Amino acid sequence: MIIAKTITETREHIARARTAGKSIGLVPTMGALHDGHLSLIRSCRTQCDYSVVSIFVNPTQFGPNEDCDRYPRTFDADSAACEKLGVDLIFAPDTIEMYPQQNLTWVNPDKLGDHLCGASRPGFFRGVCTVVSKLFHIIQPDVAYFGRKDAQQLAVIRRMVADLNLPVEIRPIDTVREPDGLALSSRNAYLTPEQRTQAPCLFQALTLARDLITAGQNNPDIVIQAVKKHIQKQPDTKIDYISIVDNDLMQPVSTIDSPVTIALAVHLGPARLIDNIIVDPNQKIP
Ligand code: PAJ
Repeated sequence: MIIAKTITETREHIARARTAGKSIGLVPTMGALHDGHLSLIRSCRTQCDYSVVSIFVNPTQFGPNEDCDRYPRTFDADSAACEKLGVDLIFAPDTIEMYPQQNLTWVNPDKLGDHLCGASRPGFFRGVCTVVSKLFHIIQPDVAYFGRKDAQQLAVIRRMVADLNLPVEIRPIDTVREPDGLALSSRNAYLTPEQRTQAPCLFQALTLARDLITAGQNNPDIVIQAVKKHIQKQPDTKIDYISIVDNDLMQPVSTIDSPVTIALAVHLGPARLIDNIIVDPNQKIP
């Protein structure tokens, strides 16, 4: 496995793979790899000839008071995990390599990125789209893998690829969860043991919402109230948003009559956790 820290070196290795006729797969990450990331990497390994994992904590997607500096960095464990899975190349640039000068050119997802997570994290999706398009230009993958756990990020990236005619196929991968339902996240490491016991309420609330909808409830406000009530039973939670949106543009729906995404973000102590599920109201419980 090659660990490349520079763009030049990365491009050389990938050019060689491409000349050999290999398909290139990319899994963009910020490191601190867990089983969620590994699930993306496994799919990449089985579906592409040459697998690239990028590890870069991208400063342009963090706000001034967010956790960029204290974001977990576990490079040795990450590279060991990648090696074990048969990754061909890790692209691990430093900030200067990716942003050698003040960045003046941005990819901005407009109204797709200014609500849900974008409302409480202004500039977040601008940073994500900019770094992901830089990664796409550096690596030029045939396929790139993104988790459904970050549903809005997936929608934003898909739309960016379509709007900008980027020659890459985006493949979504289902959310990997702990046995109690908590979605795996690098930020779960911030939780105290006591907060960790409260964290499964997010997925429980989403499951509750799904059950209400498949039992016939089509009023989003009623479903959102039920979700809110369930989460607020846990004393350390502070709800950022709960929203029921369409699966394409991620805009709030006024009635639930086609498949929707129920998305939420909840502060739990020092961690801001997000989760979502897709629900099809037409798949009624028998
Ligand atoms: P990061 O949070 O490291 O996530 C990298 C990828 O792993 C994302 O596509 C995310 O959706 C996926 N992922 C995270 N937790 C998951 C889980 N429990 N199950 C399945 N997939 C999961 O998302 C980012 O990094 C950054 O914004 C990035 C796209 C790399 C741009 O900087």
